[in-house]
This record gives sequence, C-alpha cells and structure tokens, in this order.
Amino acid sequence: MVALSGGFHGRPLGTLLATGNPDKHLPFEPLGDWVTHVPHDDAAALDAAVGPRTSAVLVEVVQGEGGVRPVPADVLRAARAACDRVGALLIVDEVQTGLGRLGSWYGWQTALDGSPVQPQSASPLANLDALTVSSVTGSQINVSANVTPPTGGGFEVRRRDWSFGPGTNSDLVLRSTVPNFIIPREAVMEQYYIRMYDGSTPPNYSRFSAAVFVNLPL
Ligand SMILES: Cc1ncc(COP(=O)(O)O)c(C=O)c1O
Repeated sequence: MVALSGGFHGRPLGTLLATGNPDKHLPFEPLGDWVTHVPHDDAAALDAAVGPRTSAVLVEVVQGEGGVRPVPADVLRAARAACDRVGALLIVDEVQTGLGRLGSWYGWQTALDGSPVQPQSASPLANLDALTVSSVTGSQINVSANVTPPTGGGFEVRRRDWSFGPGTNSDLVLRSTVPNFIIPREAVMEQYYIRMYDGSTPPNYSRFSAAVFVNLPL
C-alpha cells in the first residue's frame, strides 16, 4: 500500500503503520513493512511508488495531524490515475475532512473541484423558496424564480451545490438577470442548483440552493 508522509490514519496496528509519522511507530514496532510512504506534495514520487503489487493508495485531502496541511490537487489526481493504472483501490480517509467540514459533503469534492472554500457571505440573500418549475420538455426546463433579483444581480444555475462562489465558474450552467429562464436539457437524469446573487463585488448569494431534479427522456 502507498500512503503519504504526515498522514494520520488511526491507532490500531494496520492504520498506525499507514500513519506517516515514524515517531508514532516507534513504541509499537515491529508493525510490518507493507506500506510505502511518499511526500504529501510530490505527484511524481507517488506515481513512481505505485506498481503492480500495490493494493491501495491511502490519502487525506487535508492532513489533520500533519498540521492542517492540504494535499495538492495534482497529488490527489496522480493518486487516482495511479490506482486506475494498476487496478488498485484509492482510499480517501475523510475522518477529519468529511461531513461538510471543507464545504462539501466529502472533502475530496472540494479538493478536486478546484474552487476555494468560500467563507459564508456576511449578508446572505433570501433562498429561492418560491421557485417553481412550470414545465419540463424534452429540450428545456422552464423555471420561474418568482422573486425580483437585486439591482445588478440575478440567478445562477450550477450542476453542483458546493461550487457557488464569487469568481468561480465551475459547474456554471447559466446566469439569468430575469426571474423566468430556461435551462437547456442535457441528459435524461439531471440535477441543478439555483441561487440568487446581487450586484456587489464580490456578489452575495442565497445561503442555500433551490434544487431541480429531472428524470425524463430527451
Ligand atoms: C484522519 C483520521 N483517520 C482515522 C482516524 C481513526 O483513528 P482511530 O481508529 O485510532 O480512532 C482518525 C481519528 O482521529 C483520524 O483523524
């Protein structure tokens, strides 16, 4: 197995061996020799350490015991690619980063999305509680926000709920400055998240999204 230096994975013998801190191993040795540790920020070293005998790569996306140290996205991507290359399992230890603690349900979602975790806006706008879908056809979803947006603002539609944020365009489907707008259909099953934004720089957003889920043939 390959794990990262500075990582922490627990106190039982196997996970203690995977923990990338030799000081923690010392009192309990011998622990085994089946884990190779590579630096937390070296994608090439990780790739080189993964071979045909590798069963799994174990990572945290932010190392907690390692000093609240983010693992660079290119290392996480290298881990994914190396596991795919040899048929190994990629294990993301989310004990410290899961359950929304990095802004998304799992920390890897935030880490790989590339968008910074946005601090909560000081004055969030109203949620779109009155939003309605007036019809869905094979080619479009007709949405009415049923509220007038603030001056200079509008409505933002994204494919994922965690990617809203000033200056972030990932997963953006469209922005509309008017309350009635059309989302073009893309697939049989679709999910969209919609928030209001205002005209300030950076913009404030609704605190929570209104969600639209569709399962209908194109
Ligand atoms: C990142 C991480 N992985 C795993 C664990 C589990 O540790 P243990 O099995 O010793 O409770 C913890 C506990 O704090 C942790 O922080």
